[in-house]
Amino acid sequence: MEKLANLASNQRLSRVAHTHESLPMANGNPAAPRKKWTNFMPLFVILVVVAEIAFLGRLDMAKNAALVDSWADVFYRSHAGGELPLSGEDFPVTMEGSDRNLGSETESCEDWLEKEDAVVYSRDFDKEPILVSGFHEEWKTCAVGCKFGSSSDKEPDAQFGLNGQAGKAKILRSMESSQYYAENDIVQARRRGIDIVMTTSLSSDVPVGYFSWAEYDIMAPVQPKTENAIAAAFISNCGARNFRLQALEALEKTKVKIDSYGGCHRNRDGRVDKVEALKRYKFSLAFENSNEEDYVTEKFLQSLVAGSVPVVIGAPNIEDFAPAPGSYLHIKELKDVPEVAKTMIYLSENPDAYNQSLRWKYEGPSDSFKALVDMAAVHSSCRLCIHLATTIRQKEEKSPAFKNRPCKCTRGSETVYHLFVRERGRFEMVSIYLRKLTLEALESAILRKFTSMNHVPIWKEERPESIRGGNALRIYRIYPVGLTQRQALYTFKFENDADLRSHVQRNPCAKFEVIFV
Ligand SMILES: *[C@@H]1O[C@H](CO)[C@@H](O)[C@H](O)[C@H]1NC(C)=O
Repeated sequence: MEKLANLASNQRLSRVAHTHESLPMANGNPAAPRKKWTNFMPLFVILVVVAEIAFLGRLDMAKNAALVDSWADVFYRSHAGGELPLSGEDFPVTMEGSDRNLGSETESCEDWLEKEDAVVYSRDFDKEPILVSGFHEEWKTCAVGCKFGSSSDKEPDAQFGLNGQAGKAKILRSMESSQYYAENDIVQARRRGIDIVMTTSLSSDVPVGYFSWAEYDIMAPVQPKTENAIAAAFISNCGARNFRLQALEALEKTKVKIDSYGGCHRNRDGRVDKVEALKRYKFSLAFENSNEEDYVTEKFLQSLVAGSVPVVIGAPNIEDFAPAPGSYLHIKELKDVPEVAKTMIYLSENPDAYNQSLRWKYEGPSDSFKALVDMAAVHSSCRLCIHLATTIRQKEEKSPAFKNRPCKCTRGSETVYHLFVRERGRFEMVSIYLRKLTLEALESAILRKFTSMNHVPIWKEERPESIRGGNALRIYRIYPVGLTQRQALYTFKFENDADLRSHVQRNPCAKFEVIFV
């Protein structure tokens, strides 16, 4: 009973904004377990070196050895199960006839690594999905087996709240700001024994944002601004733990005319469709009740939908959430009000300048905005399961079987590094092989690999059609698996090739996540 009550109270805190979040299909295939094939190694090393030299020479690809990585990769991938082809008929790439049976005699570094590094994880999440105790939900389209609910015969992997079984990961999920609910502060939550924090903070383990393409028609067309007042306010509660009321009062004292539909300083009948009403105004007062990093709610998003330039009081890092630079006005402190009021008046009197702040509506938002909102193309419950499953695998990777993987293959002066990559929002990793540990080689290996798999970005169905882009994959970020989204999107960067090299040397068989944009 106590557990149930706790669960219920947790759910109450969880204002889940996503009424609809669709979950695109996972498409990465788990690497099939491979047989060990070390017995013939000495012979193979000789054969492979000879064959490779001949091969490189013949293809005149020596200049671009990296391309051979991809070729070898595609080649061996196309032979599912890892068996070497017995006849030249299986050769997938059209070349001069004399090269056609090369694959049958040789084993490349890539092929050897693919086998040697293919240690099988003990848990198959298709058969034994991640189980989170809580209300029943099942995510058929999640990239990893994922179930919410109780099971009499299975122990959950994690549970909401602090009062469940000992030794199970404890989850906190809430969309409220930590200025109102101190328990949502990440440091405090960890101190209380929460293992997995799910809040609006992009530094939390599994962020739960208000933003999503599905929930907000962000690219809806701009409507004529027909109201007399230049700004609309929907502020229901005059009290707040920031200066929003004082700011409203200060703004009302300027020449800015405001129609107020909310309970606070109301001068218009509030029984209207908020977004439809906002569309008729040049500006929307998007005043949050707290100024907290990443705490950006429907107030901001509805303004974007309406094509009404948001005047923001709220997250100090609101620029991270803006569709373009210059697409919003920010009242950082009370003393900014007169300056912001001046800008509002100026823009309202200069149609071309005003139109510039809505340019993103016509030309599309920035990559950074797309990459942020795309995160929500995968439901937070599914992202939670991916997080849990990833943690389970990371633990297992500490075992000797994984520690003993070679992860690189040296022949003469050349070393081939085996790395793993997955798209953000998916679970299974795919292999890439690098001869040069450079950022450029990493990017191009990832592009070649995913392109050869005809990979479709996970957000493809979700994003508005006008801003989906073409079929070519474009990389926005590459980062080590395990970083927070704050790090992944804004603060982390491999500084240079040496930085990448030292990361891979410290983390053999390093795992990366890629965000396509
Ligand atoms: C605003 O600019 C877009 C192009 O960027 C244009 O299509 C549109 O007509 C302009 N609107 C106004 C009111 O000037």
